[in-house]
Formats: sequence, C-alpha cells, structure tokens
Amino acid sequence: MSGSERAQGLIGNIGIRGTAGSNDFNLNSIKITDDSGTVLVNWTGSSSDFVPDDYQWPPAKWNLTLPSLKDAYSQYFKIGNIMEPTQTTDATLTAMYDKQYNVVTAENAMKPDNLLKNMSSASELLDQSKYNFAGADQIVQWAEDNNQSIHGHTLVWYSQTPAFINTGASGTRAAAKANMETYITNVITHFNSPNFISWDVVNEAFDDNTSKFDHKDWRTGLRNSPWLTAYANGADASKGESGADYIYDAFVFAHLAEAQIDSTAKLYYNDYNETYKYEEMAQMVEDLNAQWEQDPRYDGRKLIEGIGMQSHFWIGGDPHVDANEVETTIQRFIKAGVRISVSELDMPFEDNYGYHLDEVKQKQQADLYSILFDIYKKYAASIDRVTFWGKADIQSWRGSGMPLLFDNSFRPKKAFWAVMGLDEPTTNPSTSNPGMGAATVGTKDGQVTLEPKVETKNGVATAAVSNDDLTKALKQATANTNGKKQVAIQVPAQANATSYEVQLPAASLKSQDAFELVLKTDNGTISVPSNMLSNVTSSAENVSVRIAKADTSSLSADVRAQIGNRPAIDLNVLAGDQVIAWNNPVAPVTVAIPYTPTATELANPDRIVIWTIDSQGNATSIPNGRYDAATGTVQFSTTHFSTYAIAFVDKTFSDLQSVPWAQQAVEAMAARGIISGTSEDSFAPKASIKRADFIKLLVKELELKGIGSEDTMFGDVPASAYYYNELAIAKELGIATGYGDNTFKPDSTISRQDMMVLTARALAAAGRQVGAGGSLNAFADAGNVSGYAQDSAAQLVGLGIVNGKNGKIAPNDLFTRAEAAVILYRIWKL
Ligand code: XIL
Repeated sequence: MSGSERAQGLIGNIGIRGTAGSNDFNLNSIKITDDSGTVLVNWTGSSSDFVPDDYQWPPAKWNLTLPSLKDAYSQYFKIGNIMEPTQTTDATLTAMYDKQYNVVTAENAMKPDNLLKNMSSASELLDQSKYNFAGADQIVQWAEDNNQSIHGHTLVWYSQTPAFINTGASGTRAAAKANMETYITNVITHFNSPNFISWDVVNEAFDDNTSKFDHKDWRTGLRNSPWLTAYANGADASKGESGADYIYDAFVFAHLAEAQIDSTAKLYYNDYNETYKYEEMAQMVEDLNAQWEQDPRYDGRKLIEGIGMQSHFWIGGDPHVDANEVETTIQRFIKAGVRISVSELDMPFEDNYGYHLDEVKQKQQADLYSILFDIYKKYAASIDRVTFWGKADIQSWRGSGMPLLFDNSFRPKKAFWAVMGLDEPTTNPSTSNPGMGAATVGTKDGQVTLEPKVETKNGVATAAVSNDDLTKALKQATANTNGKKQVAIQVPAQANATSYEVQLPAASLKSQDAFELVLKTDNGTISVPSNMLSNVTSSAENVSVRIAKADTSSLSADVRAQIGNRPAIDLNVLAGDQVIAWNNPVAPVTVAIPYTPTATELANPDRIVIWTIDSQGNATSIPNGRYDAATGTVQFSTTHFSTYAIAFVDKTFSDLQSVPWAQQAVEAMAARGIISGTSEDSFAPKASIKRADFIKLLVKELELKGIGSEDTMFGDVPASAYYYNELAIAKELGIATGYGDNTFKPDSTISRQDMMVLTARALAAAGRQVGAGGSLNAFADAGNVSGYAQDSAAQLVGLGIVNGKNGKIAPNDLFTRAEAAVILYRIWKL
C-alpha cells in the first residue's frame, strides 16, 4: 500500500478501530514490529482515538459452513446487509454474503456525497459523465452476477450530501427543486437494473427532538434540513407552500424517473428513532399519498410505497428494544397502508466493554434480537426485508458497541444463533478461545468435535490429538445408520500457516472399530476411515496427516496455466518427518478444498475438476471430483496421496448441436477425462458405442479396481487392446461375462437393455446402493424387455439413471455414444 488509503475496519487480519462514529480516516501506513508485536498505525483526518484491546482475537475468517439466515427466513422476508465496492472482490466475504443474504444496500457508495464527489457546482449536475458511478456500479454488477436484490440508498438527505445541490450560492426553492429533479432523474435512470427492489427517496427528514411535533401537522416535526431551508426560500405561503414540500417533490421526481426506465422498484421513506417518530412519519405518508392521488401526474401507485425502519437500537441507551414500541410502530405503518422494511438494523451496547462481550452480555444481546425477529415474523406479511447494518462488529460504523451477529473475528455470536432460532453449538468458536488451553470436546453442527491445541512455527501449524482426547470424543459420538461413529477434529485457522499437520495415535488409523475422523483445517477438510493405515507396517506410535498448500512453481507452464490461482494442496501421511507412501484401495479418504468459483465457473460448475499431480508433474483428472455448492468446496475421494489442484476445463466438441439433450453430459464427462471424443474436435454423438468402449467408460468412471485375480481373458481380446486393463477388471468383478464360447465381441454394438445389465452390475461392483428398483409399467413397451434385463432395467429406472426414450424403454435400440454420456453423467450425479 502506498500513499494514503481510505480504510475502514479490516486490513488483512489487523483490525483498526476508532471510537463510535469515527471509522473513516485516511490511513498513511501500518507498521508491525516483529519483536514486540506492536502495531503502529499512521493516519490523518480523524478525530479517532485508538483504544487498546488486550483480548487476543483469533484471525478473522468467515465460516462458510454455517446455516443460512436468508434460507431460515425465506418464507418471511428477504435478509440483507451492506456492502462497500471493494468488498465485492473479496471471495470469502462474497461467498459468505451469498450464503447468508439475498438483498444488498450500498453502505456509502450510492449516497449523494459519493456520486457527486467529482463535482463542485450545481451546473455540473446535468452532465452524466461527471457522476462518480464506478463504485456503486461495481456493487450493482456483483449483485446482478450473484442474484442479489438491491435496495438503493439514498437520494435526498440532509447528510453526506454536497452543499451546492440545495444551498449553493442562491439557495432558493426554484434552484433546489431543479437540482433535485436533475439528480434524482440521472441517478435512478443510470441504475437501470432489474435487481433494484426499492429506493430510499428521502432519508431522515424528521428532527430528533420529537417534542417539536404538535401532533396535528407532521410538518412541525421536520428537521432543518438544507433542503427544507432552500425550499422555504421562495415558498408562497398564500398557496400553502412551505419548506416541507421538498419531500413531496422528491417522491414525484422518483416516480417520473422510474417511469422512464419502466421500473417499479418501491419508493421508500427511511428514518431512525422510528419508535419515537412513527406518528409524524405515518401522518406524512397518509397526507402526501392522498395529495398525490389528486395530482395530474398520478400514476396509480402510492406516492410513498414503503417506510424504512432503520432500527439503530442501543443496549443501555435509547432507543432501546421495547417490544411494545416496535409493535405499535409497525401497526401504525401498516395502518398508513404502506410496506415496511427494517432497513439498518444494529444494536450496540452503549459501553464498549473493552470491545469484548462476555457470555452474559452476548446472551442479553441475543435475547433482544430474538424479541425483534419474533415481532418481524408476526408482521412478515407487511415486511419486504430485514437488513443488518454491517456484517461483523469489526466492520460496523458503531463497532465499539459490538452491535451485530458476527464478532471481530467474523465468528457467529449468540445473537446469530438466536436469530437463526437454533441452539448455539457447544463448541461455538465465539465462546471458546482456539489455540489457548487444552483440547475441547463438544458438539458442533450435530457432530462431536474435538478442538486440539495448535502450535504454529515457520508456517507449519501442528495440532496434536492425544489418545485420551480421541477416546473421550469417540465415547460421545453415536454410530450412524451404517454403524460408523464420526468425530470432527477442528484445527483453528492460524495466521500465516501454509501447512496443517494433525498428529494422531497411529493405532487410531489401524483400528478395526468402525469410525471416521474428519480433520478440518483452513487448507481443506479430509475424512479418514479408522482403517486408513491397515496396510502400513510402520511401527511409529504417532502419525500425522498433513494438508499443505502446494508449491506449483515447478509444474509445466500448461498445467500451471490451467490451475491459475486456484488452490493446490499436498496431502501426506508422516511418521515423524518421514513421509509414508500411502495407497490403500480398501480405505478411501474424502477431501474437501474450500473454493469460491468465479461467476463464469459458477455458471458451469461441472467443469470445475480436481487433478492429481504425480511426481513427474503429470496431471490426471479424478473422475469423482466435483464442486459442491452447498459447502463451497471442491470434493473428491482418493485411495492414495499426492498433490491435488483445482482446475477449470472447458472442453466441448463441434458436433454436439444435434444432441442438445446430451451436451452438458458430454462436456462434464470430457472435462474430467472420463469420456473422450473420436477426435480432438468431434464426438460422433449418434454413433453406436462399442461394447468394449462402454465397459472401459464404466470402469473408469466408477474407478473400479481389480485385485489381479483374473488371469484369463476372453478369446477374442488381444493383450494389446486399448481397453484390455479395464475389461480385465470388469471380467474379474463379474461385470463382463461374455458369451458361452468365451468371446466378448468387443467391437459389437450394444443394445439398450444390455447396457442396463452392464451398468447395474458395475454399480453393484462399486458398492453403490442400487435399491429395490422402480417399476417399468409407465413405459409402453415394458413387455419387450427380455427376462435377463428386467431387474437391471427396474433398478436403473428406480435410480433415475434410465428415463426412457419418448415414453419407451426401447430395450432393443442400439445404444449411442451420446446416450452413454448421459447415463455416465447421471451416475456421476448420484
Ligand atoms: C453510515 C455508514 O455506515 C458510515 O460508514 C458512514 O460514515 C456514515 O453513514 N443512517 C443511514 C446510513 O441512513 O446511511 C448511515 O450509514 C447510518 C445512519
């Protein structure tokens, strides 16, 4: 970083915190001295006091596996939060955002101060090119790419607005009105995105001193906004004009601007202290909405369509959460006939408590959030959205009071679990302090979780799990339906660690007991079965499983280019510092690497693949590898360890137009090397597939292995055949049985019913649960299926692998290459 940067909240893992209301400052430099650990921050232009916080906050990291707020409230209303433009490029933050929220408000980027920052006089307002739309556009683009709704904030406000727009040299009603119309029109028509659901047209028009309001005329309660002052200068009282008219005009201009772009984004009035101001707000809405119906420009919509309840509460100050006041307010707004949004919810403690909430205070805050959400649910039919004003305390404009659902390290607070309506997991990291103290054992997300001690040195984080800890955890775990227990070992994320090593008693991985250990680290999660090392002879007492970031610099330029900056990891088992060559076909481990795909990748997630890279640098795709959107990880299972890297493979063929129904399947299978074309560029989709080729594909896709017990081959298969190895495996596993004369007829075509027999046998050999099978009755030609193929056909129909061909099972039709791709793809999707 050079020069001075505008900074707020978080830089890397260093939290920079001002006192309340002073988070914006010009940062000149940060220096961290390595011996004393002192952080020196140099800044200008701030009244901020820097407050020491002696609590050791773990590194800030969003947890992408938490349950989702937006899903929990999907039947009620949208759940929103705020964004700044630069945050849209932070992959972890946006992945978290997409999981938790479905509507966004720009925290500052759409405010007049920002949009007009390159102008110095009202005469420039007409020139669209002078508006500073870049940052706001970045948020809109991100929202469009990620299916986020957008709430526009805010058009007409007394604050964060340059003086020239209303009180410039003349400061008259006529000038302010003309400027307002130009500004509102330019801004609304610029943001012509279908994702906009609403706009704050006027923000905070009422005075904090509610005793100004005479309870008859809402105008008496208005604050002295520069808009009001300018509008008063030139108002003709004899015609009933006053400074208050700016509000009516603002909404009219917004209606007219929306008409230009055919938008019906709802037009809102937004204010804080609404539990005190609700009567004047409601009267204003009723009065202006009635006036609008008489206006020749009336468009059939309400002038003010919604009220935003900012809901900036305080704990230990006012406004505090008073359930009656909140309900009365909502009821009054419903009576005024408009929609409601909770637009800027936060709830800081008035005292900063050294920036750290103890359990009791967290609980107090959680209970208040619960009260609010119970009320919101009750009135959900009238509420469009509930938006939090901030993602985590450290990023909040009122961060010193710890107002939000996530703490300074982005960990969920009790308030998060309260809003979710879920019990807080006992090992919720927000209440334990990872890395300090003994291993803890508890239940998290329904899973027994052991959190070991960690030591980090030279980039290597080592977590040792003792026999006692493991025994204790296994005792707590209950067996699943397969009779297997599962224990998670959660290694807390370590700043600067490139490698994580989990040390385990070797006996625990050579055990006859059925259990699985899920080693969770920042680099990836690896689930190992208790028999993982059953074929390893090492006598070491302890072994370590290592998940390290891989150094890809020695790979070929081609391979590096396809990996790009996607994650690559090295997996190893070690005894002391000796790597044990692990390869155990009977004990597959499953691996999940956290990954946030780009927008292009997300549009084609089947093309995200995982490569295994051998010691020569050769990359081979793992057939079972895939991106799992629910967990935000790329997952695969393997029976040996090497280097693994995520790649994006965009493979297609020029002759797929005639088989649009098969295109996705062909491409997904080709991307991971399961299927290939008849040449680089063609797939020959309509050609019949040969028996040997289909066998080869099944064996490859299901990663079937033989134990080499088969040493005789069909009489018509030469040892040099390109499919020899796979056919030998299929023969050994009883998938390929051949004809009575010991031939296999490898080059023959294959009927659909023979395909079903081979596929069902292959699935069984792969240990897949094939189930009882479905019914063939729905197919007009069910009676044509030969006896030997009936069970297989029923099984595949039951699994959804075979769906029929124009309502028929077509058992005797020849099976084509395109159909083969689809069958393989459905198996892959199982
Ligand atoms: C706040 C932002 O969060 C801060 O970053 C900025 O310094 C000041 O404004 N009411 C509103 C919001 O309508 O726009 C304000 O946002 C908070 C109060």
